[in-house]
Amino acid sequence: MRCAVIGYGAMHNFGWAHSAWIDHTPELELVAICDRDPERTAAANQDWPQVETYNSIAEMYGACDLDLVSIVTPHFTHCPLAVEALGAGKHVVVEKAMCLTVDEATQMVDAADAAGRTLAVHHNRRHDGNYRRIKQLVDEGAIGEVFHIELSIGSFGRFDHGWYSEKAKSGGSFYFWGPHAVDWILDLVGEPIAGVNGYFHKLLWPDVDMADQVRAIIRFEGGAVADVCHSRIAAHSKTLWRILGTRGAISDTGQGATSGYEHQISAPSGGALTLTRVDENGHNRTSEEVPYLECDWYTYWQEMADHLLHGGPVPVSGEFGRRVIGVFEAAERSSASGQTEQVPYE
Ligand SMILES: NC(=O)c1ccc[n+]([C@@H]2O[C@H](COP(=O)([O-])OP(=O)(O)OC[C@H]3O[C@@H](n4cnc5c(N)ncnc54)[C@H](O)[C@@H]3O)[C@@H](O)[C@H]2O)c1
Repeated sequence: MRCAVIGYGAMHNFGWAHSAWIDHTPELELVAICDRDPERTAAANQDWPQVETYNSIAEMYGACDLDLVSIVTPHFTHCPLAVEALGAGKHVVVEKAMCLTVDEATQMVDAADAAGRTLAVHHNRRHDGNYRRIKQLVDEGAIGEVFHIELSIGSFGRFDHGWYSEKAKSGGSFYFWGPHAVDWILDLVGEPIAGVNGYFHKLLWPDVDMADQVRAIIRFEGGAVADVCHSRIAAHSKTLWRILGTRGAISDTGQGATSGYEHQISAPSGGALTLTRVDENGHNRTSEEVPYLECDWYTYWQEMADHLLHGGPVPVSGEFGRRVIGVFEAAERSSASGQTEQVPYE
């Protein structure tokens, strides 16, 4: 499979990361990198001297025979670039956040259907070592039936991070770290969403047009509830994960979970979570530290190759990615309406 990366940005070195993951996957061949900024294609030339670089996507499509493109550009460009690539007959991996709105997500899904090509969303952090361990423990029933999840990131400080801090370009405060958080929750619970309540606060930094704190409470059809919060006005922070089940709980700080993330294709486990188990009467309680699994970030790409070449499942489909965007939109609508809001394609 002949692959190209579109977007070789310096902010998180993530065009490099996509190139490295593709290069590491035996069935995938990195043949081209495109960034409209000549300084970034010069960097790509240094990193990957054997690969063609382009400053125009049209020029790259004219010159290269490509099977798959990976889109690693700012969020507001994801929908138009993905629809263009699918229309040109390429399979697409698009970075998180998939796009800005559910309408855009639907345009992308429809474009993939019309072209008979695959659209996959790069929710690669399902391969973080702490999440992999959490998923393993929950799936094997280590804490019984999960009914409550809290997932929070908080700090105190003005958000100043290039285009990420402009709502029209990024989508808003939920679209930075929120795609990882909501993808984890939807993957872990695996049930339709019954409704979302949102609470957005805009109290400080009037020059930043994004909420200072966003919170979504997601209710699932089976009764489980997840509370996800990203705050820039939290002078005290909470632990990253707190998961309650009928036979125990998991808490995790996430400390060390992603060390080396933007410079390595995999990493050893960097920490441990706390697992507490209780017996059915709640009399006996034991707690232990459980080490994270390895961060196997390149696995996403092996799954993508297996899908394209051998008919395996899509690592994360466009339809799944659309649910994540649907949660952000429903939370924002709910914050304004004061009502529980529904997620289309729940
Ligand atoms: N999955 C993760 O863990 C993770 C981590 C970091 C970034 N990301 C995502 O990666 C994407 C890119 O983020 P970033 O931090 O690398 O941003 P960035 O601004 O550093 O890089 C974006 C690059 O895209 C280029 N670009 C923009 N429009 C283009 C176009 N039409 N054609 C060609 N090139 C174009 C820019 O010149 C820039 O070099 C975002 O979706 C972001 O959320 C994901």
